[in-house]
Amino acid sequence: MIGDHLDEYRALRSSLEERILAIATSVDGRRFELQAPLQGLALPPGGYAMLEDANGRRLGQVLSMRLEQTDAAEVGWEGSGDGPAVRSRITIRTARGEGVILSGDGAPFHDAAIRPATPEEVEAWLAEGAGTRARLPVGELRLAPGVPFAFDAGGFDRHTFFCGQSGSGKTYSLGVVLEQLLLETGLQIVILDPNSDFARLDQVRDEVDEPTAARWRALAGGIDIRSGDGAARLCVRLRELGRTLQAAMLRLDPVDDRGEHAELDSLLDDQQPATLEAMIAATQPTASELALRIRNLGIDRWGVWARDTGESVLASLGDPGVRCQVLDLGSLDSHEEAALVSAAVLGTLWERRAQRRPVLIVIDEAHNVCPSDPPDAITALATAHAVRIAAEGRKFGLYLLVCTQRPQKVEENIISQCDNLVLMRMASESDLAHVGELLSFAPRALLEGATSFRLGEALVAGKLASHPALIRFGRRVAEEGGGDVEAGWASGR
Ligand SMILES: Nc1ncnc2c1ncn2[C@@H]1O[C@H](COP(=O)(O)OP(=O)(O)OP(=O)(O)O)[C@@H](O)[C@H]1O
Ligand SMILES: [Mg+2]
Repeated sequence: MIGDHLDEYRALRSSLEERILAIATSVDGRRFELQAPLQGLALPPGGYAMLEDANGRRLGQVLSMRLEQTDAAEVGWEGSGDGPAVRSRITIRTARGEGVILSGDGAPFHDAAIRPATPEEVEAWLAEGAGTRARLPVGELRLAPGVPFAFDAGGFDRHTFFCGQSGSGKTYSLGVVLEQLLLETGLQIVILDPNSDFARLDQVRDEVDEPTAARWRALAGGIDIRSGDGAARLCVRLRELGRTLQAAMLRLDPVDDRGEHAELDSLLDDQQPATLEAMIAATQPTASELALRIRNLGIDRWGVWARDTGESVLASLGDPGVRCQVLDLGSLDSHEEAALVSAAVLGTLWERRAQRRPVLIVIDEAHNVCPSDPPDAITALATAHAVRIAAEGRKFGLYLLVCTQRPQKVEENIISQCDNLVLMRMASESDLAHVGELLSFAPRALLEGATSFRLGEALVAGKLASHPALIRFGRRVAEEGGGDVEAGWASGR
């Protein structure tokens, strides 16, 4: 039995495995293949390596690693006493992998020595490529401990897809990114916030260092937070909504409801009623079906109307004095009202595209705001606007940042237009495969690692990152809104 000789077998095998060299070869100077002994291996996918030979040193990043087993020898033991003779093959295990070259002269090389890069080496390389554009410090490299990682602010002139399963830390990390954009750049931001997660974005956290806190307080005046029940009310005016949106809100189909649709059209042609009351009054003489529809749907009782006192959010959209507008959709009474505001805001930004004023449009919980299968006509319109902005908005300075835990439920034509990816923990293989298919610039092997990310960990790739990097997000400056329900009920009695 081999079991009787296990220690000897192991000793033989390790003496062979110890002789495996840690070397790498590149035929094109851009990618490399490596082999290394398994013992003490410290080259995880996403990690950094130094490749050295007589021609110099290059920094590389390992993208994938696997175990390879090869038959190396045959061994045998004589039988003794009752024990039979034993023969066995020794299989030796080698780590093999692939990676990309991050720095160096771009020349091919053969059998360069490879070792893990030190955090200092990685940091020095990052500093070299920092350039002149604003850097947004968002956290640190997970595989080069202590090395800060910053986004390239210029990368936000592309659309960004931000995803991860529920509780992976998306909204928190999104907050970290938005705070840095507000602190370090002049980009205007509009946030569609279905969960009221940014309702306290103007309040600084107690633990923040004083210089940063002071900078945040100076910014806070330019943060306009609109809530259904807040001092600055989240509201719109009927006359600002286009014909299509009004018809969608009234659930009017141009063919099935041709009488009422024609009545709405002629009302809008004649006088553009400023309020629903005015619209109902205008239809009174004929006890119109349209008036009944408005009443029966309860639209005239929605809290989202500006009425006499409210200042419409559409009027102040893009106001140069406002750096960031938070639209707290979660504070509205119904899904229809939230969808109406989303559709109106996206439609208005698109209509004003000719102004070419750069704005980052953040859509959190995008699977509800612009889903692949919209449940109603208003959401379908919001989705259509988002798709158009995704396809054509960039040249007008309309940049999307789309955040979700359900990538398969977001309209595909929005995701596929994204050139930046921030991927947090995602346990679902099918969600990951979907993201990988739509965003092929993200290295597949690193993408697969997202199943084991911890809270606050992410893969970032695209124009906003110097290279596809595994990072850990840092701390927020402003208070979180909403928040999860406290799990006090779980403590023992
Ligand atoms: N980097 C971090 N440091 C400390 N706490 C964090 C960090 N990231 C997230 N959290 C906390 O973890 C919890 C979940 O985070 P978050 O709400 O951002 O997740 P999410 O992915 O947006 O979830 P959902 O999909 O349900 O909205 C929150 O209570 C948040 O405060
Ligand atoms: Mg969230």
